[in-house]
Amino acid sequence: MTELILGAGGMLARGLAGERPHARSLGMSELDITDPAALARAIVPGVSLVWNAAADTRVDLAETDPSHLAVNDVAVGEIARLCRDAGALLVHVSTDYVFDGRAGRAWREDDPVAPLNAYGRGKLGGERRALASGAEVLIVRTSWSFAPGGINFVDTMLDLAASGKAELKVVDDQRGRPTFAPDLARALGRLVAIGARGVVHFANAGETTWYGLAKEALARGGFPHVRLVPCTTAEFPRPAARPANSVLDTSLYERLTGEAPRHFTEALDEHLRRRAETAGAAAT
Ligand SMILES: NC(=O)c1ccc[n+]([C@@H]2O[C@H](COP(=O)([O-])OP(=O)(O)OC[C@H]3O[C@@H](n4cnc5c(N)ncnc54)[C@H](OP(=O)(O)O)[C@@H]3O)[C@@H](O)[C@H]2O)c1
Repeated sequence: MTELILGAGGMLARGLAGERPHARSLGMSELDITDPAALARAIVPGVSLVWNAAADTRVDLAETDPSHLAVNDVAVGEIARLCRDAGALLVHVSTDYVFDGRAGRAWREDDPVAPLNAYGRGKLGGERRALASGAEVLIVRTSWSFAPGGINFVDTMLDLAASGKAELKVVDDQRGRPTFAPDLARALGRLVAIGARGVVHFANAGETTWYGLAKEALARGGFPHVRLVPCTTAEFPRPAARPANSVLDTSLYERLTGEAPRHFTEALDEHLRRRAETAGAAAT
């Protein structure tokens, strides 16, 4: 039986490829998930498991360019329908941005969804299509991802510091749980191994703000001299609104698997080690 990883090249897909060496990884050039004919050629009887790690994650662009919907919403329905027909399990990944951020506690799987931005609405559309498809589906919502080689907040901060920036202004009134994509890949594997279905939240332990995450990343990454200036969301306007509280509650994951996610600072240290190794290899 064949396993497919869609969206190869992305942060999560790379982690999945490491966890599932027997799986076939397909990047956009081999399989564009917005092409229904290409999907129909790939997801056929004999495929037992599809890991959909493909997504258009350009949150701000989504406000003005609706093309994200083809990837994050419509294609997920098509993938799910083909999985149903092939008898394959679909593992799909969604986001903390399906919530409006107004709860005074961490978000549980069955809390009401009310996305504040177009990206969140598109991802929610994808969730709903997958759940309505009649396929066997596991949807894992995650937040604030980072991993070597991806476009992510942690690397942006480290790259700015490495380029000589002496001062960085960072939003300090949005709270969330940073997540190391390779840890998410391992978590997805554990959930599949125990037969989990429906919606489950996963994020690394420890909640912080973007400012708090930048502080940890720069201190651990060898840039303690960069001056970090906390600011409010209003002082740093972006095209897409972000939830003030997007902390995900992972107690369902912990109950199901019997394991607690490690703290994000431990994952940050691993990320920094891997980043240094890659930089070292590139320099030789
Ligand atoms: N990154 C985050 O902070 C975050 C937070 C919460 C949830 N998530 C979710 O986590 C999942 C994994 O994302 P990630 O963090 O690994 O993001 P990522 O690094 O941006 O990876 C997404 C991958 O999907 C590919 N892709 C885009 N359009 C495609 C298409 N039409 N067909 C095939 N592949 C396509 C991208 O290719 P190109 O690079 O060539 O465009 C990229 O390699 C997604 O479902 C995302 O919504 C991410």
